Amino acid sequence: MSTPHLEAAFGDIAETILLPGDPLRAKLIADELLTEVKKINQVRNMLGFTGYYRGKRVSVMGTGMGMPSMGIYSSELIRFYGVKTLIRIGTAGALQGHLKLRDVVLAQAASTDSNFPAQFGLAGHISATPDFSLLRQASHIAEKLSIPYQAGTVVSSDVFYHMDPDQWKKWQKTGALCIEMEAYALYQNARLGGVKALAMNVISDSLVTGEQLSAAERQESFRDLARIALELIDYEGSNN
Ligand code: HPA
Repeated sequence: MSTPHLEAAFGDIAETILLPGDPLRAKLIADELLTEVKKINQVRNMLGFTGYYRGKRVSVMGTGMGMPSMGIYSSELIRFYGVKTLIRIGTAGALQGHLKLRDVVLAQAASTDSNFPAQFGLAGHISATPDFSLLRQASHIAEKLSIPYQAGTVVSSDVFYHMDPDQWKKWQKTGALCIEMEAYALYQNARLGGVKALAMNVISDSLVTGEQLSAAERQESFRDLARIALELIDYEGSNN
């Protein structure tokens, strides 16, 4: 069995998957943190792997950047491969001055400037939210690991290089914590499929101060996210 974008056989992908945007990050996580690793996808170089973490079977795969790409991969994973728990680990730009570089933001809700929700054919705006048990447990784990985190609304944007460089200030006024490009599509696809999702972001840059993490710091903070996500999987595995 395969889909237009995935070559894995049914059963090759674990019920729980970590989803970084960058496929090379997926490889890094598989190489460093998982055992008995098997490559399950390389179509379009969107590398995916399945292995074990503390005896629990888990997959990790890149999703690319933006909601169209996240929408395709999350949809195929849920609809055709029976994936039940999807955890995005990504970076985001801070919209509020109280967020520091390397802070973790658990996306308690996602707003969007995207047309993605138009497919539902509903007037008004549809809220995108994570699975509450994943959110709650991720916050406990971040506290246990002493990783600074906040939970709040993220903005999932279709535009990285906006023609109005001050556009983000309007989102800032809504109280959103940070801006990224994928959570909204992941949350809606998970709701459509009746499965669980959580998006966790590490602050890689600040639209308020203009600071950004170096490549080495990004790598290190990504490890923080992976640690929370894998602990979460360990917990999930013992509660299913
Ligand atoms: N905008 C959108 N996505 C991002 C950003 C940003 O400033 N930083 C990291 N991901």
